[in-house]
Amino acid sequence: MKQCRICNSNTQQIISFGKMPIANGFVKKPSSKEFVFTLKIAFCPKCYMVQLGETVPPEKMFHDHYQFFSSTSKGMEKHFKKLANHIIKLIDNKKKPFVVEIGSNDGIMIKHIANAGIRHLGIEPSVNVAEVSKKFGVNVSSVFFNKKTALDINKKYGKADIICGSNVICHIENINSVFEGVAELLSDDGYFFFEEPYIYDIVKSNSFDQIYDEHVYYYSGLSVSNLAKKHGLELVDMKHQDVHGGSMRYYLKKITKNKVSTSVKKYIDHEEKLKLHELEGYLSFKKKIDTVCSDLIRLLKKLKSQGHTIAGYAATSKSTTLLNYAGIGPALIEYTSDTTPSKIGLFAPGSGIPVKSYQYFLDDKPRYVVLFAYNHKKEIFAKEVEYRKKGGKFIIYFPKVTIE
Ligand code: TYD
Repeated sequence: MKQCRICNSNTQQIISFGKMPIANGFVKKPSSKEFVFTLKIAFCPKCYMVQLGETVPPEKMFHDHYQFFSSTSKGMEKHFKKLANHIIKLIDNKKKPFVVEIGSNDGIMIKHIANAGIRHLGIEPSVNVAEVSKKFGVNVSSVFFNKKTALDINKKYGKADIICGSNVICHIENINSVFEGVAELLSDDGYFFFEEPYIYDIVKSNSFDQIYDEHVYYYSGLSVSNLAKKHGLELVDMKHQDVHGGSMRYYLKKITKNKVSTSVKKYIDHEEKLKLHELEGYLSFKKKIDTVCSDLIRLLKKLKSQGHTIAGYAATSKSTTLLNYAGIGPALIEYTSDTTPSKIGLFAPGSGIPVKSYQYFLDDKPRYVVLFAYNHKKEIFAKEVEYRKKGGKFIIYFPKVTIE
């Protein structure tokens, strides 16, 4: 098995999902020539980082036709507006604060910082996505954040009071270079914080579809505190976020005489209780994953044999892992409806399930839909009251397969 990308120790394999396409690689036509790689995750017994065994070159994932736009859910819009207000409060005492967001996407968060007239810089390598944020007045640079680009930013704008990122810090394979960049760019009393899917939640609720090519790292308080230390930073707070099926926001500062919140110890204690500092903590995970896949297939086959139409709800990236690992294709799920205009007419990677518009779903009224965007369940159930009233049923597959 590979060396740990953080500390170079030998890693231990947790699970292999076999050959997988790029999770967000929606295709114009299903073909056998899609790029594939072996999706597997490994654990480092020294620094506790859970990470992909094999990674995909970033240019295969984040390019000028990248299909992920953050602003596709009202819940996420609300979440990031709240985060922007939190940042504005944190820099309240600064004369000319400077905020840097790594992976600013379509501007969902940083547009509020721009609106408030605060000096800022969004970093977004996918040019098509960055263009959207410019329309909101966001100052954006389409580069990959690393030590070199951090030095360039420092030269041009000076030190940053806040460096942040959401659902992006886990994407960057050369994470040591990001942390080196942060150490260069962060002001002495500045905050670096990021929120990412939390391995504790993934293991606990069995949400294994968070594991895909873009997510190179699966963080915990245990691993982040080690990573931080390596770069002269300290984990000073952790705040759990009820998004993406359970995320954690980690707050880091330069090592000085920091006040460390009691939350850090609390969450790390929980992680240790689940044995996330040993391979053992991950061993029952594979068994639970296989149970979900076989239960889901059994249910879909049964409903199909009863003559029901089954569709998917939301063509998410994460559903790629589930569909390809379980071997589910259009024979079981006829199509998936999605609200993102650029995904419509394309086919889900690997599985070849066609993506149709939301209107198509409304007209078709399939009896069953598999909720691929289970992380937006509250918002979607509020939207689909009528559908459910008229007998439409959602199939949920975490933490176990149920019909609601
Ligand atoms: P997201 O949670 O961002 O998932 P992932 O990171 O796995 O791609 O899901 C966003 C997708 O869900 C996006 O393609 C839009 C779609 N979606 C709908 O189609 N309808 C909805 O009501 C919501 C909330 C999302």
